[in-house]
Amino acid sequence: MTTTGMNNDPVALISRSALRQNFSLARRLAPDARVVAVVKANGYGHGMAEVVRILHDADAYAVARVSEGIEVRQVTRSQVLILQGMINQQEADLCLAHQLTPVLGSPEQVERFLQTAALPQCWLKVDTGMHRFGLSPAQVLEATAKLGSRVRCLVTHYANSENQSHELNREQFSRFDELLQQTGLPGSMANSGGVLFHPHAHYQWVRPGIMVYGSSPTGVTLPQLTATMTLQAPIVSLRHIEAGEAVGYGSSWSPAGPARIAVVGIGYADGYPREVPPDMPVVVQGQRVPIVGRVSMDSLMIDVTSIREPMVGEPVELWGEQLPVDEVAMLAGTLGYVLMSRLTPRVRREYTE
Ligand SMILES: Cc1ncc(COP(=O)(O)O)c(C=O)c1O
Repeated sequence: MTTTGMNNDPVALISRSALRQNFSLARRLAPDARVVAVVKANGYGHGMAEVVRILHDADAYAVARVSEGIEVRQVTRSQVLILQGMINQQEADLCLAHQLTPVLGSPEQVERFLQTAALPQCWLKVDTGMHRFGLSPAQVLEATAKLGSRVRCLVTHYANSENQSHELNREQFSRFDELLQQTGLPGSMANSGGVLFHPHAHYQWVRPGIMVYGSSPTGVTLPQLTATMTLQAPIVSLRHIEAGEAVGYGSSWSPAGPARIAVVGIGYADGYPREVPPDMPVVVQGQRVPIVGRVSMDSLMIDVTSIREPMVGEPVELWGEQLPVDEVAMLAGTLGYVLMSRLTPRVRREYTE
């Protein structure tokens, strides 16, 4: 296991080759489509600018917000899509200044785009059943009539891509197909679930996010994906306690016999979840040991009675190569998306080959 380096901060070790491998898998699965790398939310916690540099051969990049697009523009000349479009004139002007492509998702955004005549191009989002962002099919036809060749692609988003048998998928396909036929525009529907599970609906552009980061949209680890992030923190303190002595806030756990407890320097203020079930594993010396007691703001405790006595400074893996993020997420009742994107700036990002 790689060590955490010179200081005692938690570190997210990010593997460049794993990111490239997962991105290549998306390309191979959608051989006839162009691939947008979705890098919003700090590259799902991996560091947005660095992910763009690593995936420099993506056909385009997508972020949620204009402010993120400006950051991405500093490191690439390729197309940068703003998935939530622009909500006021200031954002429209920023799209123009930084050559960002808004994905327009409401009649107001279409009007704003019309009024910003110098903006060369947009994509249009159509609501085929998710009911979050997007124009109705009738509004798309109106917008394309007004905007003409400035519209470059129609986008829609699955509500249930990870569930192959969900009946709404078929309705979403058929509404989208009809509109693509009516407008003659290229289409984009597939997020990771679409790339992985709906090969007949890749259209001209796919938009994988979570699979690039080695985590599954279903929440269940997929063997074809490679872990991209290993979260580590050092042991910062060790102590012995006796049967019946309780550990941590709320005195919620105590051992049945004498136990060796290690304090690990990571807590909920770093983005590790506070709500973990009893026996949530971490990995030390290649072995799984349980978290005991409550996770605190800056630290958590683990029971290392069953392994060789560790030393202060020894690294502990919270998730990553030896413990899939999807497994930790499932035990914590959440998803890999949440765990990785919620890591705070307190966690150093370190890039490995
Ligand atoms: C519009 C849009 N496209 C693509 C993605 C990527 O989705 P995923 O991370 O599930 O691949 C997202 C993520 O939320 C999105 O909002």
